[in-house]
Amino acid sequence: MNIASQKEFRGEFLIPGDKSITHRAVMFNAAAEGDAVVKNALLGEDCLSTVRCMRAFGADIRIDGNTVYIHGAPNFRDAQCDCGNSGTTMRLLMGLAAGKKVNAVFTGDPSLSSRPMERVAAPLRLLGAEIRTTDGKAPVTVSPSVLKGARIETKVASAQVKSAILLAALGAEGETCVCEPLKSRDHTERMLSAMGADIRVDGNEISVRPGKLHCVDVDVPADISGAAYFMALGALCGETVCRNVGVNPTRTGILKVFDEMGVRYSLENCRIVCGEPAADIRVCKSELRPVHLTKEIMPSLIDEIPVIAVLCAFAKGESKIEGAEELRVKESDRILTTAEMLSSLGGDCTPTADGFIIRGTGSLRGGKVRSYKDHRIAMSGAVALTASEEGGEIEDADCVNISFPAFYRLLQRKEN
Ligand code: S3P
Repeated sequence: MNIASQKEFRGEFLIPGDKSITHRAVMFNAAAEGDAVVKNALLGEDCLSTVRCMRAFGADIRIDGNTVYIHGAPNFRDAQCDCGNSGTTMRLLMGLAAGKKVNAVFTGDPSLSSRPMERVAAPLRLLGAEIRTTDGKAPVTVSPSVLKGARIETKVASAQVKSAILLAALGAEGETCVCEPLKSRDHTERMLSAMGADIRVDGNEISVRPGKLHCVDVDVPADISGAAYFMALGALCGETVCRNVGVNPTRTGILKVFDEMGVRYSLENCRIVCGEPAADIRVCKSELRPVHLTKEIMPSLIDEIPVIAVLCAFAKGESKIEGAEELRVKESDRILTTAEMLSSLGGDCTPTADGFIIRGTGSLRGGKVRSYKDHRIAMSGAVALTASEEGGEIEDADCVNISFPAFYRLLQRKEN
């Protein structure tokens, strides 16, 4: 896919629904009692994997445009689940299947099959779950067993791990408490509470008691992780407005980075949509300063690091990103793939064990980006090429369909 240099980039963008919230709205409603309508759902390949798996467990799900109609199946049947490229699907469903006491086998594509699953399986075993991984990875098998509530301290600040434990705990005897080292995104806690779960949050500690879920309608705000590409283009090339973006405080680390880098932006029409804060985000072309990021901020912007790295290349001076070792186990090793992307466009980026050092010069030449079939590398590369001197090409560009099927059409402003 060729990406032209566009030194002037302005416009208003309707970004698709939040991926994390869409996964949860489909999954939790499909496992609950009653019927629900999920509007503005993101129906990229990852969330369609969740739809496919929930149908396999017995839910009745119909899709019409961006709206999903769900008739829940609280009593799961045994299932074979192909989770495609989606870590959220596999990890959350491992917990849900354990709590529902069914036989389930989870498989994924080559990328997902190389990602760690013991980080979910091990804490679930502490509740009594019977789970087998294959050398720590997929295929993963869950077998029926009695679960007992426990206090679990997770090693990584991961919303996927936390959510899997909370979902299993709904089917355990007694109370479960999850304590994480840093607060990860809290969409699960918000949605389970709206669905009638007995759940309490105290800082980084979440307690849940067993119980049934009741379906709720969800209107999904736009995904700040998708908006981030168009926000970055506003900062680099003109002015952009992304409408109705989810600004849950566990997701807005990129706005703190904007503050530090000197990016001019504003949040307008701030409101609450289905228990989640949302706003229109306007970003204007700015003189960028380098930034130093450390591990505390990582959970709130982990998926945005590749595009933040692009911004660092356009800042003048040395930026340092530390404490980001989780990038090594994403859809690709994003420490390596981000560094390669910037280097192949003429940037100066040195990968480290837990991040990068980027010596920004204020511009990138352009060239050819290898996406390694990682949607966030392809989209970050496309932003870099759009703001570059010469533009260039993305290899394996189709992978954006995982989370943002309309991405290139919006970039070329052929659709809004
Ligand atoms: C997600 C959590 C994050 C994020 C992923 C989506 C979620 O992963 O990177 O894209 O929806 O819970 P971790 O839980 O591994 O940090």
